Amino acid sequence: MTTLVFVLAFILLGLGTFLVAVSGGRHGLGAAVHSQSRGSRKFATLVFGLALLLLGVGIPTAVIASVDDRNDIPHANIKNLTSAELRGRDLFGERCAACHTLAASNAVAQVGPDLDTVQPNAKLVLSTIQNGRSGNGQMPAGIYTGQDAKDVAAYVAKATGASGG
Ligand code: HEC
Repeated sequence: MTTLVFVLAFILLGLGTFLVAVSGGRHGLGAAVHSQSRGSRKFATLVFGLALLLLGVGIPTAVIASVDDRNDIPHANIKNLTSAELRGRDLFGERCAACHTLAASNAVAQVGPDLDTVQPNAKLVLSTIQNGRSGNGQMPAGIYTGQDAKDVAAYVAKATGASGG
């Protein structure tokens, strides 16, 4: 979307320039832009103003709008993370990504099991965070507590496609 707007803006600018160029001649558009008469200066100012508006307001607006889509993770095919899950994603990145692989978070560590393979539901993630795990390695208990732990659990379950629970 953003790319499209950006490209369109430049195509329009290019087209405008082209039109001015080919419609040259004494009475053409080019003459109007380049002459110093009052009316044509107004016209040139208008064109300049419009271009400025498009580049200065239109494109930033489009970019900001597309940033709002951050609650999707397209490469992991995840849509509409809730605000709790978004928080969980941040927390996961801070403390869990150091040991685990999770595609949605671009996490590739291999100290603990690959969560994309385990696909733990929220309940299992929560109990793992609360109790820790020791087996083929150590995962300390209580990395997160309370709402933090719940948000991480909700995020991991959603990110791996496991249903809640
Ligand atoms: C210090 C490294 C480390 C960190 C940090 C860590 N883990 Fe683990 N995690 C492990 C290890 C090692 C295991 C496997 C333990 C075992 O062999 O049973 C594990 C296992 C798990 C399991 C699988 C449990 C099961 O029963 O299959 C889940 C889910 C999990 N971790 C989630 C998380 C989450 C969420 C976080 C962040 C709050 C986190 N881990 C942080 C090392 C870590």
